[in-house]
Amino acid sequence: MKIHNVNVRWSKWFCYAVIFGVMFSLGGGLVWAAPKGSPWGKEYFPNVELINQDGQKVRFYDDLIKDKVVAINFIYTHCGDTCPAETASLKRVKALLGDRLGKDIFFYSISIDPDHDTPKVLKEYAERFKVGSGWSFLTGCKADTTLLRKKLGLYREDVAEKNLNEHSVSFIIGNESTGQWMKKTPFDEPKTLARLLGYTLSTNKSAYKSSSVSYSEAKQLPKLSKAEDIYRFRCMSCHSLGAEDGLGPGLQGVTDRRDRKWLARWLKEPDKLLAEKDPIAMDLYNRYNKVLMPNLRLSDSDVEALIEFMEASATDAQGHVH
Ligand code: HEC
Repeated sequence: MKIHNVNVRWSKWFCYAVIFGVMFSLGGGLVWAAPKGSPWGKEYFPNVELINQDGQKVRFYDDLIKDKVVAINFIYTHCGDTCPAETASLKRVKALLGDRLGKDIFFYSISIDPDHDTPKVLKEYAERFKVGSGWSFLTGCKADTTLLRKKLGLYREDVAEKNLNEHSVSFIIGNESTGQWMKKTPFDEPKTLARLLGYTLSTNKSAYKSSSVSYSEAKQLPKLSKAEDIYRFRCMSCHSLGAEDGLGPGLQGVTDRRDRKWLARWLKEPDKLLAEKDPIAMDLYNRYNKVLMPNLRLSDSDVEALIEFMEASATDAQGHVH
């Protein structure tokens, strides 16, 4: 698609896009059903061509979203920041949805850095995170992926081109056939996201396994301490507090095995330690499949609280968060 056409279309749908944007920005969790003849159909979504991690060409509307329940986020693979954490969180949502992924629910991670993220690079990324089936990693020409971000309300004009790091961490979930779309963050409680995808948005409600926690239950989480709260939402997707490994090492005993200063620095700027080729960091990085521990921009007080929390958890024989 030529830039010229993009502009023409963009102005044609501009009013709708503004309404769309406003609705999405309200509270972040709005759902609405598209009224009959609503503009959120074939005419609204660009049918641009993308390429998946297996090198197959697909069309955004026809092949990816039409008549499907989908979760879409935008990533880039060399991001040491929020993207690995997003991918890890979505992996937990995927696990909760089980074999419905790839049948009636589909996940799409679209690269915002198509120059770097070739299908081969995306394939390596998907393998590194062991994402499994039903989840495609896609790339396309920059004008098209930017148009998609705009159309999906996930584009921030002010920071768009300056800094890849500042890209919107929000993602969108929806059902094209009912016209229901919701903007969320991948850091919402995985059970809540799984229920939204598998039940609330789904036209196949009976497929939802009721053994999963109900929405109201998921919302009534016990009151967490600050460190526990950070751990649950920012760390647990990759780590356990026990000995078992996830994407990253089990954290049991980590406050004994590492020097406190090193630990504080690691939590604060793992990317810098790796860039400096710190021997412990390099050893971990190589042992854990070259998955990057993200720099989560924690404050010094968050780091202190997390170290104390990890220390206290080591004395808890079960290694579970209560
Ligand atoms: C995207 C996955 C991911 C997230 C999210 C994540 N980590 Fe990690 N973490 C890793 C990986 C992978 C390693 C191993 C080093 C590497 O490959 O960079 C690691 C290493 C560590 C280590 C060093 C372990 C050791 O044996 O020395 C600690 C401590 C740690 N992480 C704590 C945390 C905390 C606390 C959080 C949340 C604030 C967090 N991590 C979030 C993936 C993650």
